[in-house]
Amino acid sequence: MTAEHPELTIDGLIAELKTLGQISEADPPVVTRVVFGEADLRARAYVKGLCEAAGLKVREDAVGNTFARWEGADSTLAPIGTGSHIDAIPNAGLYDGCVGVLGGLEAIRVLKTLGFNPRRPIELVIFTAEEPTRFGIGCLGSRMMAAVLTPAQALALRDKEGRRLEKWRSQAGFAGPLDSVAVPRGRFHQFVELHIEQGPFLEQEGIDVGLVTHIAAPASQRIVIEGEGGHAGGKLMPGRKDALAAAAELILALESVAKSTGAIDTVGTVGICEVFPGAVNSVPSRVLITTDVRDIDRARRDGVLASLTAASEEVSKRRGVKITTELINADPPTTCDPAILAALERAAIAAGKTYKKMVARAYHDSSFVSCIAPVAMLFIPCRGGVSHRPDEYASPEWIGGGVHVLARTLAELAS
Ligand code: GLV
Ligand code: MN
Ligand code: MN
Repeated sequence: MTAEHPELTIDGLIAELKTLGQISEADPPVVTRVVFGEADLRARAYVKGLCEAAGLKVREDAVGNTFARWEGADSTLAPIGTGSHIDAIPNAGLYDGCVGVLGGLEAIRVLKTLGFNPRRPIELVIFTAEEPTRFGIGCLGSRMMAAVLTPAQALALRDKEGRRLEKWRSQAGFAGPLDSVAVPRGRFHQFVELHIEQGPFLEQEGIDVGLVTHIAAPASQRIVIEGEGGHAGGKLMPGRKDALAAAAELILALESVAKSTGAIDTVGTVGICEVFPGAVNSVPSRVLITTDVRDIDRARRDGVLASLTAASEEVSKRRGVKITTELINADPPTTCDPAILAALERAAIAAGKTYKKMVARAYHDSSFVSCIAPVAMLFIPCRGGVSHRPDEYASPEWIGGGVHVLARTLAELAS
């Protein structure tokens, strides 16, 4: 990995990433690992085994957040945290989240191999359910650690079939009161997350690593449109209350209001559209869509939500359909900590890596950790900016560069 230490290769890490990628609900190369599903549990077991083999002490909280600790010379000091997630949305790839978990573990192993003795403990964290797939809300584990999601709100969470979080977590073997998940400010001294960029800029510009200064503000909603169903032949066009046609207008309205801010940082997506009864010869009576709106500017993001509400009201009136909107989350943007960013910059320079400061457009567990500790993120390139797809790819060289910078950063922060 370095000129001074040619014995440090990341071949083992790349093999581990590939092995983790084989643990999937779908056939490889597709990675699907929804939280608390069978593949998620096997993946957790695999990663915990690697942590234990590296001599780390592993502990889990009541919602499955996993902490693998390398004790420092002074165990009374708050640890430096690193890590990410290993759950994966349907039809995902190998690297989202996993690079931060296995790359964080690799950074720790490298420091151990080099004989480094941290003064502060270093803790690798594997957060539960960064992805919103099962329960509709992202960053479940870190959100609960930061008490942004209360135990009562967590207890109310259900999956699409109405099964509760409570059932899923106990089935997965996680017990204990949910109010034990929240941790106080100071639980971590500092936290740094390695992640693929999930955008094209580092690769396009030929830059080794990105130092993340801000994480965009995400918001999501669940919108139910209720119209009037009926026979696709018998129900004539005048007077129809087609819930899907109304939903189509809302989808296009979101696209249009997101574009109309004129800011490249505003994005709006409808990623779920469920049609009832879902028959070719039946007028849709009920449709569920979800919206995902993000921006680095919270006011502008909220402006998009307000314009969408106005569009919903207009469509509802004109088409005679009922539209109900439930806000799932509207999180603030995150500002990363200048001291950690300075350490990352020193590490990048020392490692001989090119770097630039940039914003994160995806959401990350670091956003919620920022409520309890100073955070920053380190990005590595990914091919074509592709993510949330099976062809997501980061080269061993890019991953090695990220691990190298992370290892140097952890060493400085833990000294
Ligand atoms: C997490 O993957 C996100 O949706 O940003
Ligand atoms: Mn993701
Ligand atoms: Mn991720």
